Amino acid sequence: MTNTLLLFALVSAASAFHLSEQDEFNFKSWMAQHNKVYSIKEYYQRLQIFTDNKRRIDKHNEGNHSFTMGLNQFSDMTFGEFQKSFLLSEPQNCSATKGNYLSSNGPHPDAIDWRKKGNYLTPVKNQQGCGSCWTFSTTGCLEAVTAIAKGKLIPLSEQQLVDCAQDFNNHGCNGGLPSQAFEYIMYSKGLMTEDDYPYKAFEDTCKYKPELAAAFVKEVMNITAYDEMGMVDAVGTRNPVSFAFEVTIDFMHYSQGIYTSTECHNTTDKVNHAVLAVGYGEDKGTPYWIVKNSWGSSWGIEGYFLIERGKNMCGLAACSSFPVV
Ligand SMILES: *[C@@H]1O[C@H](CO)[C@@H](O)[C@H](O)[C@H]1NC(C)=O
Ligand SMILES: *[C@@H]1O[C@H](CO)[C@@H](O)[C@H](O)[C@H]1NC(C)=O
Ligand SMILES: *[C@@H]1O[C@H](CO)[C@@H](O)[C@H](O)[C@H]1NC(C)=O
Ligand SMILES: *[C@@H]1O[C@H](CO)[C@@H](O)[C@H](O)[C@H]1NC(C)=O
Repeated sequence: MTNTLLLFALVSAASAFHLSEQDEFNFKSWMAQHNKVYSIKEYYQRLQIFTDNKRRIDKHNEGNHSFTMGLNQFSDMTFGEFQKSFLLSEPQNCSATKGNYLSSNGPHPDAIDWRKKGNYLTPVKNQQGCGSCWTFSTTGCLEAVTAIAKGKLIPLSEQQLVDCAQDFNNHGCNGGLPSQAFEYIMYSKGLMTEDDYPYKAFEDTCKYKPELAAAFVKEVMNITAYDEMGMVDAVGTRNPVSFAFEVTIDFMHYSQGIYTSTECHNTTDKVNHAVLAVGYGEDKGTPYWIVKNSWGSSWGIEGYFLIERGKNMCGLAACSSFPVV
């Protein structure tokens, strides 16, 4: 009788939080893996959020989808928290309704992967808790375009863009756009190296020294909004291309496969994350982009992800651009 009562009490305590011992076990393993430590109060909050996220992930993975989800460094965060620290905080208006990039209209290769064509891409970087994705998309693109043109790959400074590019409608850790960052680099006559102007993940005073500039922009190429074939043309025949798209909660848990979503929007005013298209291909009839992200190399496919191509998925063709050096 006592045992039954005790059991009943335990079960009801657990079910009040909808949590089981297995949930706590999973959470503790994840905490150990990610070196997380919390106060007692926060522990229970994070346990609840983690468990909600894990259930969403498990449910998705039971279904028939073109991509899988998995636990990652964001698994103890709500989407709201994630959005505040990792995404462009305000919707960005990209002005390339009519771009200046003239698509060659082919021929372009059926598939291309700039990671395999030479030493053009630096290792995946980590923006940390600062909405500076746009600076990583910018440096990744300029690093690649410069390496393709000059034969030398030099890691470039995101922090210079975070600290100095405000006059071009960029907002440090609160968002910006690669096209506007390329404009800044063009007018300020250069971008310093990562070594000379290292990343801090917060906005500080501008310490740009033009005499230490290591990369330059002669012209900014904006691809016309929603011209996804123009992006294919540019990536297939020239170089990687910066673009933005709308991240929704399902993307936060992306693990591998071709990402596709019915939750995201597809217009210029909704894009909230900037990344770098480094190639494209097709798998079992589904065309995809290969994309470099800035959430560290343990997120997604060693820091990269695939997203469906040809449908302006999540607005990915809304504002894309690259520099000419
Ligand atoms: C899974 O989805 C694919 C693509 O939509 C479809 O071809 C396949 O038949 C589906 N498989 C099952 C078991 O539903
Ligand atoms: C976008 O454009 C609208 C209308 O022109 C303006 O009110 C808003 O401040 C702009 N947002 C950004 C982030 O530039
Ligand atoms: C490209 O876009 C940027 C900002 O998004 C804009 O300032 C610039 O004028 C555009 N360039 C051209 C040549 O249209
Ligand atoms: C956005 O998606 C809707 C619904 O699928 C579609 O009708 C529309 O053409 C798309 N717009 C753009 C700009 O891709």
